[in-house]
This record gives sequence, C-alpha cells and structure tokens, in this order.
Amino acid sequence: MKQQLREKYKQLRKNIPNKTIQSSKIADKIRNHTSYQQSDHIAFYYSCGSEVDTKAMIQKALLDHKHVYLPKVINKEEMEFYEIKSLDEIIHRNALGILEPEASVRAEKIEVMIIPGLCFDEKGNRLGYGGGYYDRYLQDKEIYKIGICFDEQLSDEAIEINEYDIQMDEVITMKGNFRKENVIEEVKQGVAQLLAKDDSGHGMDHIEHVLELSLRFCEKEKADKEITALIALLHDVDDYKLFGMENAQKLTNAKRIMSEAKISHETQTRVLESLARIGYSKALKGIRPLTIEGKIVSDADMCDAIGTRGILRAYTYSMKKGKPFFNKEIFPAEDMDADRYTQKCADSSCNHFFEKLLKLKGMMMTEAGKEEAKHRHEIMVSFLYHFFEEENVPEWKEYLDHYLEKSI
Ligand code: ADP
Ligand code: NI
Repeated sequence: MKQQLREKYKQLRKNIPNKTIQSSKIADKIRNHTSYQQSDHIAFYYSCGSEVDTKAMIQKALLDHKHVYLPKVINKEEMEFYEIKSLDEIIHRNALGILEPEASVRAEKIEVMIIPGLCFDEKGNRLGYGGGYYDRYLQDKEIYKIGICFDEQLSDEAIEINEYDIQMDEVITMKGNFRKENVIEEVKQGVAQLLAKDDSGHGMDHIEHVLELSLRFCEKEKADKEITALIALLHDVDDYKLFGMENAQKLTNAKRIMSEAKISHETQTRVLESLARIGYSKALKGIRPLTIEGKIVSDADMCDAIGTRGILRAYTYSMKKGKPFFNKEIFPAEDMDADRYTQKCADSSCNHFFEKLLKLKGMMMTEAGKEEAKHRHEIMVSFLYHFFEEENVPEWKEYLDHYLEKSI
C-alpha cells in the first residue's frame, strides 16, 4: 500500500511544472521562519532529482553564518549529519547515488532540520523514501522538524503511520504552512502561565470570554480568525497594571509567547500592531486599533467589562483593592483624562460605572460590538436604578438620570 503511494508520488513529482519558482518561494519562507532566525545549527538535505531544490537555502544559511549540516549514509540503516562550510565540500556520491559531504565534523547539536519527502499530510505525517533513515535518526532527538514539499505533494488524506514514523512539527509548501500542534492552544498555555493566578479581573476566565466573543464578532465582520484569536489571547499579558509600564510599552510577554510558539514574523507584526493600540487608557489618549481584527478584540474586551459580567468584575476588583461597592458620600470623578484615569483607582465600584463602564457602549468600533454592547449597557443601567432604589438614595438616581441624558 505504502509502496503504491510512493510510486504514485514519485511519478507525480517528476511532472510538477514550476519547481524552480516553488523551490525559491519555499527558500524565502524558511529564511523568514522564526525557528530559522533563532537557531544557529540547521540541517538541510542536499537536493537531487525532482526534490525541492535546497541549494539556494544552504547557500543563504552559510552566508547567514549558520552552522550547516548535511546527511551522510554511514551504513545500511543509519545516517549521520556533518557540517559543511561551503557547497564545494559536496563531492562524494553514495551508493544510492546521492551526493554527500566529504566533511568529517559530525553534528553535535542540530536545532532545526529541513526534511524532504515524497508526500506529507497537514498533520505533519511524512511518506519517506522507504529507507527509514530519517525516522531512525530523529528518534528521541529534540529537533524542530520542518518538512518541505511542492504543493502537489501535500495529501488531503491522512498518511498512515506506524510507531516508528516521525511526525514533522511543521510542513511548508509554497502556498501553505501546516503545524502539527495547534498554535492557538500553545499560545493559550503561555498566556495561562502568566494570568491563571490573577484575581484582579484579568484571569483566564476573562481571556476565554474575550476570545469567544471576538471569534463570534469575527463571523459577522469577516476578519482573519487566527490573527483575531492571537490578539484576544495576548491582549492582557503586558497590561501596565499587572506587568509594569516597561512591559506595556515593549509588549515583552506577547513577543516572547509568540516567538516560543514559532509564529511567523509577518503574523507577529500584525498582532503586535493591534496590541499596541488596545486598552481603555490608550483610547482616552486617542489611540485606537486600526485593523478590523484589533477593533474586534477591543470591542470584545470592552463588552466583557459591561453587562452582568461587568458588574461582577467591578465588584471583584473593588474588593481586591479594599474599596466598597458603594459609598453614597463620594460622587464619581468627572471628565477624567488618561493620566488621571491610570493613576486613580475609583473610590467604589459604583463610581467606576460612571467613570468608565457606562462610557464603553459609545466606544465600540464594529457593528457586531455595538449590537452586543447595547443590551449589556441596558443591564447595567437597570441594575444601577434598582440598586439606588434599594439603597434609598434618590440623589444618586438623579445623578444617573443626568449622566445618561448628557451622554446621549
Ligand atoms: P480590561 O483591560 O480587561 O478591560 P481593566 O484592566 O480595566 O480591564 O479592569 C479589569 C476589570 O476590573 C474590569 O472589569 C474593570 O471594569 C474592573 N475595574 C477596573 N478598575 C476598577 C475600579 N477602580 N473599580 C472597580 N472595578 C474596576
Ligand atoms: Ni482585558
């Protein structure tokens, strides 16, 4: 069965028309890949026949001062990797007719390996040439494995594997990138390490809500789901209140988490652009997200601060800060600018409603957000009227009346 599949893909690969263009696009992708950029020790294969051409990649890696390794078959079952300093060192043709390095310095440490195959599936399963060399070599080694192939060699159907077959961490073709594990899940783990213990209203429960709401808005607004999910997950990991001003400015945690998850540079840049523009105190300074994905997350984050969840979060926050839910003697501060807002903690949860939460409905940037904010806002208003009624404080009811009139 596997043998038949091998034959099929061998034939197919021979007839792929634009191999040169595809190979050069794949080479560019490798060079821009986070794992390539962060690693000094990289193993390639020396392409022959109709494989994705790796010569340009190898040449560039040498110019980038990477330690470059190539495989050499050392006996019927095993191969080893040897360092080369220049492509001129490829002079030996092995028994299988493949060119190998003459070099004698064996690789001690390989961080990333670029791997050929006859066919890959989107989960990273690989159909090799049948010798099992790569599977045996990679057994028990911690190497980031990138399979490369032409678009035509990517199979829609899952490739059958056995226990010895090694899965790629990622498969790269000209048109696509396919990751074994779910990047979103990996990023969520990184976020949880920072926020799981938070009890100031930024815990994972808040993050999960913002993620869910953002993805719902995404459907309506036709935005990029992956970018939106990443912004949602990372929107509080550099909050100035939790991690300080320096982190907030440099987005230190977001950068680290995305790099660890090997997210492409292009995606990282798009996410960081939006992260730098999300948050209430930035909005007070006129800094607002520019992309649809950033707007969606900003709306979702603000929606989670209003409505029933908003009421509970405001209560929790005040308790943690040692402030009461309500103090009828102290009325809310009015027209706070960004600096004052960042420095001052509201005297009570109720004041926080007036100082921030009741303003959020008017700050929505997407249609989906506006729609969601509307009923959440009404819940808060109704809650406050009932609350002031029960507290028997007519002057506060009046204050609310005036406040709402002014904000229409
Ligand atoms: P986020 O950035 O996630 O919107 P914040 O950092 O502003 O949220 O605050 C976290 C939660 O605590 C929110 O629900 C917010 O309304 C509430 N909160 C913030 N400041 C106060 C305060 N001074 N009093 C009561 N609740 C507050
Ligand atoms: Ni938030």
